Amino acid sequence: MTTLKDKIDMSRIPQHVAVIMDGNGRWAKLHGKERLFGHYNGVESVRAVITASVQLGVKYLTLYTFSTENWNRPKAEVDGLMELLVENIVKETPTFHEKNIRFTTIGNNSLLPEKALRKLEECIAETASNSGMTLVLALSYSSRWEITDAVRRIADKVKNGELNVEDIDDDVVSNNLTTAGIPDPELLIRTSGELRLSNYLLWQMAYTELYFTDTLWPDFREESFYEAIVDYQKRERRFGKTSEQLERELL
Ligand code: IPE
Ligand code: IPE
Ligand code: MG
Repeated sequence: MTTLKDKIDMSRIPQHVAVIMDGNGRWAKLHGKERLFGHYNGVESVRAVITASVQLGVKYLTLYTFSTENWNRPKAEVDGLMELLVENIVKETPTFHEKNIRFTTIGNNSLLPEKALRKLEECIAETASNSGMTLVLALSYSSRWEITDAVRRIADKVKNGELNVEDIDDDVVSNNLTTAGIPDPELLIRTSGELRLSNYLLWQMAYTELYFTDTLWPDFREESFYEAIVDYQKRERRFGKTSEQLERELL
């Protein structure tokens, strides 16, 4: 079978891929079902993307699973999503071990239901010493919440005399975000044709390559992921420099 995987340059795999898994509701509607049916079917896509990332040697995979704003959805949908989360974290923990995956989360945990939080913490503790890919679920996450929280923490350090105002730089801000220690994503994938960031990793994605596909999340599979990587590898990442400068640097 020919696969897009063969077109991938294995020496230039992004270290960190961030994903906005969108379109579950529309997928369910297309199939004449309730929105939750779309979320259930999205789980297979999560597995596919984890498998493909591990195979390619991606070091960090961050999946936007539930935003702060998603708390405003109908209660039945929110409850269903939380149940689905708990069920799958428990079910997938052995697979994380098998694939040497370290599991973690970013987001405002204080809003999560007690049971979900407990299961997440168990999985985080159990996989803490795995040394392969780090899988990050952005849960009850929003960038503005995260940045505001970082500002508060930095202000506290200044107030306590631990930090001078003049020493506040990019690194200090990065180190006070929930993603401290995780490199910025080189690639963002958003499914379902929406062309926006929806409050996701705004600081971290200053220079991230953006990839949008019309594919709805429950239809996204390994090949779809490879397609995004192939597209990413065609981009020239200039970081404000000129093409000529980059070519010279390569010599
Ligand atoms: C993404 O799919 C999953 C979550 C936001 C939890 P949606 O539920 O947003 O699906 P659409 O965008 O309504 O189709
Ligand atoms: C973003 O999708 C959040 C997740 C995928 C978890 P949404 O469907 O909530 O985003 P908007 O509302 O279309 O911007
Ligand atoms: Mg959506």
